[in-house]
Amino acid sequence: MTTDLLLAVLHHWLVFVIAALLAAEIALLRPGIGRRQLKLLGGIDRYYGALAGAIIVVGVARVYFGLKGWEYYVYNHVFWAKMGAFLIVGLLSVPPTLRIIRWNRAAAEPDYAVPEAEIAATRRYLWLEVLVLALVIGFAAMMARGYGV
Ligand code: HEM
Repeated sequence: MTTDLLLAVLHHWLVFVIAALLAAEIALLRPGIGRRQLKLLGGIDRYYGALAGAIIVVGVARVYFGLKGWEYYVYNHVFWAKMGAFLIVGLLSVPPTLRIIRWNRAAAEPDYAVPEAEIAATRRYLWLEVLVLALVIGFAAMMARGYGV
């Protein structure tokens, strides 16, 4: 019981923080972004990756140590829809991460300006992540309530 509760609390904390980091990235990444904000964006993006890793660890722990038992999830297709959507969020986060690294390297040049077209394209990826993350949360609530068994 306690393990299940602790893992549930931890899972929610991590999920809220990752959503906040994604929102911060969208807020920071605007045309005219300066060197300092680029550095901050790089830092946030690293935490975003680390948090995704922590969510996987805690999520897997919930599958194995949760009250319902691992069989409940492994044979539940909404659980797998959630995993698929989570994987898509991960894949969508790759191009922004690569760009952010590249921009930070280029920003060593004193008058470097990030091309506006790249900012717009990267913002589209970030917004797509928001959309698919909303699906992940929807699937999570469904599987917790017995859908997909
Ligand atoms: C960013 C990714 C994720 C988000 C946003 C997310 C979100 C959530 C939310 C909101 C709940 C609570 C559902 C409810 O009680 O109504 C939940 C439960 C759960 N999640 Fe996640 N989750 C994520 C990733 C994962 C991963 C990667 C795993 C497993 C590998 C996982 C496994 C679970 C389990 C086992 C539960 C418990 C469901 C139950 O009470 O039966 N989650 N998740």
